[in-house]
Amino acid sequence: MSEKLWGGRFREETDVQVDAFNASIGFDWRLFAHDIEGSMAHCRMLAKQGIITEEEAGRIIEALGEIRRELEHGEYPADEDYEDIHSLVEKALVDKVGPLGEKLHTGRSRNDQVALDARLFVREAVSHLDELLQRLQEALLDQAEKNVDLIMPGYTHLQRAQPVLLAHHLMAYFEMFHRDRDRLRDALKRVNVLPLGSAALAGSTFDLDRDMVAEELGFEAVSRNSMDAVSDRDFVLEYLACASILMMHLSRLCEELVLWSSREFGFAAISDAFCTGSSIMPQKKNPDIPELIRGKTGRVYGHLVSLLTTMKGLPLAYNKDMQEDKEALFDTVDTVEACVGILARLMGEVTFHGERMLEATQRGYLAATDLADYLVRKGMTFRQAHETVGRMVLFAVEQGKELHELTLEQMKGFARRIEKDVYEWLDPVMCLDRRNITGGTGPGVVRERLKKARRELGL
Ligand code: ARG
Repeated sequence: MSEKLWGGRFREETDVQVDAFNASIGFDWRLFAHDIEGSMAHCRMLAKQGIITEEEAGRIIEALGEIRRELEHGEYPADEDYEDIHSLVEKALVDKVGPLGEKLHTGRSRNDQVALDARLFVREAVSHLDELLQRLQEALLDQAEKNVDLIMPGYTHLQRAQPVLLAHHLMAYFEMFHRDRDRLRDALKRVNVLPLGSAALAGSTFDLDRDMVAEELGFEAVSRNSMDAVSDRDFVLEYLACASILMMHLSRLCEELVLWSSREFGFAAISDAFCTGSSIMPQKKNPDIPELIRGKTGRVYGHLVSLLTTMKGLPLAYNKDMQEDKEALFDTVDTVEACVGILARLMGEVTFHGERMLEATQRGYLAATDLADYLVRKGMTFRQAHETVGRMVLFAVEQGKELHELTLEQMKGFARRIEKDVYEWLDPVMCLDRRNITGGTGPGVVRERLKKARRELGL
């Protein structure tokens, strides 16, 4: 390990295994651009405050720019030769500008530095995820528009319940992703707070202009308590929590894609490019991608629970336990980005089988609720109507028939007030038409929603 940032107080060399165990460079190298961005802002402020000279600041900033380019080209090995990214950048700086480089850390601790880096990283991750979610929403919207006339069974308990539009079903996910984006954007308010200036835990003795640094870095506020600022990771947890909820939504959509592309349902087919085969069963075409996304959900939940657990017993302020936030964060970012990105593409590659879905709405008594509503319109209370239709369904089940296959005479046996117009109430197309209520599956309101959704996406 190269020379320590904290060597002065020590008589003996650190144990080699301890160095390796303690180091975070193997993963926190990913913060290099954020670390340098934060250092540049800090450096400009030091000069403005007269803590270092403008000339010194200029040389430091130029060297930091070079280091960033070198890091982008992988010129520093991310191994245990450095303790963490902060030491690496500082060493590289001293290599370039000599002892002047050591001035950069004036008024700063790695504790507020790492909190800053993580905030910058999360902010970038939020905006990237937002873009990816926009693409996924576009794909869902495109499919909903393309298949706007397709009728399918809506389910509860995975039992056929009432007919719905496929577009309405797909748009349910659109709304979930809309809220996911909203949640992420809301979290950003709490991410966008500058911790720098908190130093190790108690604030700095230098006259730092924290507002200036905040403004340079595009933060909306500066932290109000130095101990809080260096020792909380709730902004990371919020990202992980948003990611977990998002993964839950992705997983449900994927579960439906798996079900729908099964022979049993036969509602949809995923294009070959997004499926895989079996090494032994030549006929197989498997929906591995939705399955994998469903599977990766557990891993993201795991990161959330792991960091919550890491944080729960920590006394204020900084503790090294908190170094464990990074792998959880990085892996979550990688996982959700990969999942949303591939699902957005896969969604565009799904073909829906309208006939098969329509057929499914005609078996399983999906119009029973409408029949009860019909009886209410003919003067029954809803409970009476429910009971009557329940008995009609039982009768039909015994006859091996659907409701619309019963004769008028048979129906009249259950309720004399049933008339010929009842058959309209049993037609799935009519069932939909009766639901043009805000938020319902009626074709009129669904089309309206699609139009509005397109505008919301800025398309
Ligand atoms: N690698 C450390 C982390 O990730 C950086 C902060 C180190 N601070 C300290 N006092 N040891 O948390």
